[in-house]
Amino acid sequence: MTQRFALVTGTSRGLGEAQAQYLIEQGYVVFGVSRSGSTLSHENYIDIEADLREEGAVESMYETIRQMTEELHLVVLNAGILTLDSIFETSTLDFRNNLDTNVLAPFHILKHLADFIVENETHIITISSLAGKKAFPNMAAYSASKFALEGLVQTCREEWNDLGIRFSTLYPGAIDTGLWHDIELGDDQHYMMSIDDFLFVFDTLIKSPPNVQFHSLVFGHRDGVIL
Ligand SMILES: NC(=O)c1ccc[n+]([C@@H]2O[C@H](COP(=O)([O-])OP(=O)(O)OC[C@H]3O[C@@H](n4cnc5c(N)ncnc54)[C@H](OP(=O)(O)O)[C@@H]3O)[C@@H](O)[C@H]2O)c1
Repeated sequence: MTQRFALVTGTSRGLGEAQAQYLIEQGYVVFGVSRSGSTLSHENYIDIEADLREEGAVESMYETIRQMTEELHLVVLNAGILTLDSIFETSTLDFRNNLDTNVLAPFHILKHLADFIVENETHIITISSLAGKKAFPNMAAYSASKFALEGLVQTCREEWNDLGIRFSTLYPGAIDTGLWHDIELGDDQHYMMSIDDFLFVFDTLIKSPPNVQFHSLVFGHRDGVIL
């Protein structure tokens, strides 16, 4: 079987780290990217430190990948940040940072992906959020970024229609990761999905037949209240 290569963003912790670990177990060679770097250690894991908000950093990241392969069978647009504040309290800096991390960074990755696309094969999985489907109070910056992300992905799907690329987008509700580390959650934490819950769905995507794409997969905790 030919070696399969995956690019996963945001692998220093949380969902990105778990997805990278899972993909290694599935036999992928994984390029994992974050600003602070991952503690993952495996012969099939290549850690790349880059701030994906910077186009030059993304171009350098692809140069590193090119030293090993020009084929990416899987791209997981996962890296993201969340600012929780009312509109009155959201600073312009925070609003811009959500847009830069959650939309501009995926734009950079997609814009420079061309050389690595494997026609009729590459699967691009976007980790959006329920807040990218439905507005919630105190999430203006995050929601605006995730709604915009959908516009970006849909446009790519249209423009690259003849390449046989799959685009799947996940819209999970709240998951217990460090994304919430600064936020007082109280009982709401009981109603979050676990990373394993998320991986169950991710596993379904990875093992789906090559002609199937999940345009919009919304899921969450049965009793979830915060998202
Ligand atoms: N947790 C949830 O409840 C939940 C629910 C729905 C959707 N999501 C989505 O799932 C994705 C992952 O979230 P998570 O819960 O795993 O968050 P997390 O634990 O905070 O991890 C976020 C990852 O993104 C990376 N990252 C952030 N800014 C970056 C940048 N400028 N350049 C490169 N990497 C960057 C971080 O690494 P560095 O800080 O080292 O750069 C980290 O590895 C996000 O897109 C989030 O919106 C999460």
